[in-house]
Amino acid sequence: MPIEQICTIVEAVKLNQYAYSFTLAVGDMVKKGGLKAGQFLHIACGEGLLLRRPISVCVCGEDEPEDTARIVFEVRGEGTRWLAQRQVGDKLNVLGPLGNGFSITPDDRLLLVGGGIGVPPLLGQAVYTAKKAAAVLGFRSADRAMLVEDYRECCEAVYLCSDDGSLGRHGFVDAQLKDILEQDKDFTAVLACGPKPMLKNVARVAAEYGVPCQVSLEERMACGVGACLGCAVQMADGSMKHVCKDGPVFDAKEVDWNV
Ligand SMILES: Cc1cc2nc3c(=O)[nH]c(=O)nc-3n(C[C@H](O)[C@H](O)[C@H](O)COP(=O)(O)OP(=O)(O)OC[C@H]3O[C@@H](n4cnc5c(N)ncnc54)[C@H](O)[C@@H]3O)c2cc1C
Ligand code: FES
Repeated sequence: MPIEQICTIVEAVKLNQYAYSFTLAVGDMVKKGGLKAGQFLHIACGEGLLLRRPISVCVCGEDEPEDTARIVFEVRGEGTRWLAQRQVGDKLNVLGPLGNGFSITPDDRLLLVGGGIGVPPLLGQAVYTAKKAAAVLGFRSADRAMLVEDYRECCEAVYLCSDDGSLGRHGFVDAQLKDILEQDKDFTAVLACGPKPMLKNVARVAAEYGVPCQVSLEERMACGVGACLGCAVQMADGSMKHVCKDGPVFDAKEVDWNV
């Protein structure tokens, strides 16, 4: 059950020219609310509450004196620009936990595939499966890279790709994914987060090698709780589902990739 909570920013770090990492004190939202990485928080970005913005939980923990949740975001428009100007000690009005995260167990051997701002929500999955996951992280260019050291600390292997060749392999993450699966198909799941065309390609490659795939979808949102139809997406069986309430994580086979 989501609750509205006033959360203090306890750490604020600028990760690169575009991305910010905030750690929020979230009361007992982890212990009692069951908040998990991959779910999202709906954050009021501005003086009016009409301006909530969905931001994924990157990692969270049962800390003292309060549970904490780390969020990582890029400035895209008015709301995220306002958010980026907040500082340690400032308070945010947060609604959460929202949505369903990835279905995993600590014993899973995961292959994580993140693109751009889709990289942060997968970090918590790598932490949870402690050194058993491999991660493919894709960025437009080296200056947009983020969280690479965090991934190296908790993954078995980290592969970097960039669209312009300025970091790691020159090219898209699905080509790297294909090469990994060609050598080693012994993963329990591929988990992916990033732009829809990337997710479509990742889902296709995972299916080709017979590895189950879960994807985290992004849609423009308003209410964030399933009440407005703002975030509806088409499923392969012809039904419509809400990204905010039924997702954001879906089995890749459920999604209609042709719309
Ligand atoms: C489930 C989910 C998780 C997300 N997690 C992250 C994250 O971890 N880090 C991050 O940087 N971004 C994340 N996003 C995208 C983020 O919500 C948008 O970048 C943000 O809402 C843009 O708001 P704005 O006011 O800065 O931009 P504007 O373009 O000015 O926003 C105008 C309106 O469009 C909506 N909107 C615009 N872009 C998006 C978008 N991509 N998704 C949803 N609504 C949008 C806004 O909510 C607002 O109502 C996530 C989106 C979803 C749906
Ligand atoms: S944002 Fe309103 S139904 Fe999902």
